[in-house]
Amino acid sequence: MAELKVLFATSEVAPLIKTGGLGDVSGALPAALRAIGVDVRILVPGYRPVIAQLVQYQVVATFGALPGFPPARLLSGTMVHDVPLLVLDCPVLYQRDGGPYQDASGHDWADNALRFGLLSRVAAVLGCNESPLDWHPDLVHCNDWQTGLTPAYLHFAQGSAPSILAIHNLLFQGNFPPATANELHLPPSCFSIDGVEYYGNLSFLKAGLFYADHITTVSPNYAQEIQREPLGFGMQGLLAMRRNELTGILNGIDTGEWNPAADPHLAKKYSSARMAGKAANKQALQRRMGLNLEPDVPLLGVVSRLTHQKGLDLLLEIAPRLIELPAQLVMLGTGEAQMQKAALELSRRYPGRIGAHIGFSEDLSHQIEAGADLFVMPSRFEPCGLNQLYSQRYGTPPIVHATGGLADSVVDCTPETLKDGTASGFAFLGMTAENLFATIQRAIGLYRNQAKWKVLRKNCMAKDFSWQRSAEAYRAVYLKVLGRQE
Ligand code: ADP
Ligand code: GLC
Repeated sequence: MAELKVLFATSEVAPLIKTGGLGDVSGALPAALRAIGVDVRILVPGYRPVIAQLVQYQVVATFGALPGFPPARLLSGTMVHDVPLLVLDCPVLYQRDGGPYQDASGHDWADNALRFGLLSRVAAVLGCNESPLDWHPDLVHCNDWQTGLTPAYLHFAQGSAPSILAIHNLLFQGNFPPATANELHLPPSCFSIDGVEYYGNLSFLKAGLFYADHITTVSPNYAQEIQREPLGFGMQGLLAMRRNELTGILNGIDTGEWNPAADPHLAKKYSSARMAGKAANKQALQRRMGLNLEPDVPLLGVVSRLTHQKGLDLLLEIAPRLIELPAQLVMLGTGEAQMQKAALELSRRYPGRIGAHIGFSEDLSHQIEAGADLFVMPSRFEPCGLNQLYSQRYGTPPIVHATGGLADSVVDCTPETLKDGTASGFAFLGMTAENLFATIQRAIGLYRNQAKWKVLRKNCMAKDFSWQRSAEAYRAVYLKVLGRQE
């Protein structure tokens, strides 16, 4: 069989640029696909940090006159794991101080429609007869709203490859005023309910969901949840209609990057067979965060975007009661100003017991996964979630709200699941502060029983969340879309 060629279009890719899980997935899935013989190339915008990290590159194409867009170039380079990288270089749109989606003060860039319109458009150009490259993908794999217009552009182009749209988070839809559709040179005919129109606006995400040949999302449970209210966020009708072309594939983790036995960020490395190092990491974390060096007080960890989705308002609410148990808490995150403020206030009120770091720190995120005893992730909804996977690998059982990918990846600890070896954390239903508090108490109860605690940690660390299984599932979707048999 001819080799399968896939263009993977994404708005972030770790380690070059990352704001959340999409960056992790884009950094690891293409490499896992290449390992099973799929020729994947990544397309990503040339943000300032991406250009800065591009060591060697060649200009492989120029786009002087894509209607509606400023001139741009395509640079070809290589990612870690030797994944070929195509960087969309358009300095007026991408080379700025600030994040990929927002400026330094947290406001969406005013020209996001144009910025991600261009990314979508170029991905489509590379997937059709217009492509200036010798390499022609069999399929274009788009990710979230930022590349949601690609399937629409492909639909109206000549010689188009089929496309899939991977939903990482349905909350972010890329909705813009209706005039934007003209500005981005979408054919007027597609501005309808059977097209890119969504409640009178242009929706990048709706466009992708409507025109893609297949839709994937990042866990089987979330694939079901989004076909209904409230988690369909307005797209549930369309998703339910397309349910036979909707596949949920649980994300994997980069087991090289997230490996307690070889993690350079840790005070001491450890593994399931040699757990002694974990206590050293707890102490190092307590020291770094200014907490009391109390080895026997359970330490709860959080690494998260501080947004309503992540449900940390509930944790902040019960934090004073947690301190009384006693417990310690460390939080790393950025996001909504009010939540940042609340976390910092708690750390001031309970010095020695609560530590908060507002900011983005790869280093500290690894140290929290390793140093905490329990990892807390009470998300209101969670398409997949990666931190609960990392924490299991680091022998730090997660406490989660049983939703989306959290329900698919964490098995609640009961006498039965502990006995049969499946237990890997603590899960609760019913998104209330009381339920979260009761579940943390339950987890701490188990923590106090050394024999059972050891079993639980071992279970966690034995779980296989490597990308290979998920990569095989994506490959199967690609082949199905292409009508190819293996
Ligand atoms: P989401 O993509 O919704 O934010 P995920 O759990 O899928 O949630 O992925 C989040 C990723 O971003 C993880 O790799 C996590 O460690 C990382 N992350 C989130 N906030 C921070 C932060 N403040 N510092 C470092 N890493 C962070
Ligand atoms: C999104 C989701 C998260 C998921 C990640 C990667 O950011 O919020 O649940 O793990 O994408 O797919």
